[in-house]
Amino acid sequence: MPDARSRDWSPDSWRGCPIRQAPAYPDAAALARTEARLARFPPLVFAGEARRLKAALALAAEGRAFVLQGGDCAESFADFTANVIRDSFRVLLQMAVVLTFGAGLPVVKMGRMAGQFAKPRSLDQETVGGVTLPSYRGDMINGPEFTAEARAPDPERMEFGYFQSASTLNLLRAFASGGYADLHHVHRWNLDFVARSPLAERYQDLCQRIDETLAFMAACGMNGGTTPQIRETDFYTSHEALLLPYEQALARVDSTTGDWYGCSAHFLWIGDRTRQPDGAHVEFLRGLKNPIGIKVGPTTPESDLLRMLATLNPANEPGRVTLISRMGKEQVLAKLPPLLRAVRREGATVVWLCDPMHGNTVTTAANIKTRNFEAILTEVKRFFDAHAAEGTIAAGVHVEMTGRNVTECTGGAYRLTEADLATAYETNCDPRLNAEQALELAFLVAQELKARRSGEAGRVAAAAE
Ligand code: PEP
Ligand code: CO
Repeated sequence: MPDARSRDWSPDSWRGCPIRQAPAYPDAAALARTEARLARFPPLVFAGEARRLKAALALAAEGRAFVLQGGDCAESFADFTANVIRDSFRVLLQMAVVLTFGAGLPVVKMGRMAGQFAKPRSLDQETVGGVTLPSYRGDMINGPEFTAEARAPDPERMEFGYFQSASTLNLLRAFASGGYADLHHVHRWNLDFVARSPLAERYQDLCQRIDETLAFMAACGMNGGTTPQIRETDFYTSHEALLLPYEQALARVDSTTGDWYGCSAHFLWIGDRTRQPDGAHVEFLRGLKNPIGIKVGPTTPESDLLRMLATLNPANEPGRVTLISRMGKEQVLAKLPPLLRAVRREGATVVWLCDPMHGNTVTTAANIKTRNFEAILTEVKRFFDAHAAEGTIAAGVHVEMTGRNVTECTGGAYRLTEADLATAYETNCDPRLNAEQALELAFLVAQELKARRSGEAGRVAAAAE
C-alpha cells in the first residue's frame, strides 16, 4: 500500500479503506438518498470558525490557554429540549470561569454537543433474555429500545441528527453571544441543586471576586461595550467523526481558501476503536483542514501514533492535532510518558488533553456502568504529573458531563454510592459527571494548575502521598 500521504484524497476516498464500527444499513438505496439530501443542506459551521479554534488550540499547545471539552457521551433525540442544552452549556461556563480565574489562562471551550450522536461499541450485538439484537450505536444510527425495529440502522436518523444539531447550535450561538454568557451573570449560572451543595460557597466566593474585578475594570473604562469578551464568549462544537457517510455529506470546500472542511462541527475526533493508521477514519480526516483530535489509549502503539501524526499533520501545523489521552488511572503513569517522549522526539506540536472518563469505567455487581469521581481525579493528577516529569504541557481536560442532577458516577462532594446510582441514571451510553461533580472537578483542576504554575508541583505531589 502506498504511503497515505502520497495517495489522492477526496471526500469519498475513505470508502476504499478498511473500516471499523460501520453500521450495516439494510437498504443501500435509502442510505444513498439520505446522503444526497444531506450533501445539499447548509453547513452547520464555517471554515473561518474552525480556523479560529485552531489558532486557540495552537496557544493551548504552548501552555498559553487551557482547553475544556465536555458534554454528553451521546446526545439523545428524546432529551432534546432547551433546558438540557442550557444546563450543559452553563455548567461548562461555570467550569470555564473557575479554570480561567484559578489558572489565570484563557479557556478554550468545546462542547461534545450539536452532533455527538454516533457511538462505537465493543460488541456488535447485545443479548437480553435469550434475544440477540444489534447493539445501540447512537441516535443518529439506531434507537436505544431493545426491539428489532429500533435497533435496525435507519439512514433517516442522520437527517434528524442534522436538524437537531442545527437547532442546538443555534441556541448555543445565542447563549454565547446574546447576553447569557455575560460575566456579570456568573451568580445566575448556578443551578438550584448546586446552590445547595457543599461547593456553593466556593463558587459564590469566586463570583464575588469576579464582580469586584469587573467593577474595578469598569472604573478603568473597560466594560461590555469596550471589551466584548466580558459579555460574550467563543464556544465551539465537537464530536467523534464516526459515521462517515454523514461526515462526508457535510464536508464542504471553503470558498475563500479552496480547502475542504468538515462542516458538521468545528472539531472532529477519531475514537480509540477507529484509529487504524490505514483505516477509513484516518483517511477521511486527513483531507479536512479542521482542528482534529485522536483518542490515545493504553493499547495505542507508539508507531501507530507517529504514523497518524505524519499522515494527519504532515506540515506540523500548530493547533491541528489534539491528542486525547484516555489511559485509566492504573495505566496512565506507565503508558503515557513513553508516548509523550515519542511525540516530543518527533518534534510534533500537539495539544495534550486528559480524558479521565473512558479508562475508568467499571460495572457494578448490579450490572450498572459507572465511574468513580476519585478515580477520575486520580487520572487527571497523574496526567499532570506525567507532563511535569517530561517537561511537556498538560493542555486541558475532556469530560463526559451533563448539567442535570443525574446519579451516574459515584463519589464527589455528595459521596454518591453504588446504591444511589438507580436514583437518576439517565444516560443512553456512558456515565456522566453531574453538574456538581463537574464543577468540583473544575475547582480541583484549577487548584492543580495554579499550584503547578507557581512552581509548587513538588509540594502538591508530596501532600498527595
Ligand atoms: C467517547 O469519547 O465517547 C468514546 C467512545 O471514547 P473512546 O473512543 O476513547 O473509547
Ligand atoms: Co463515552
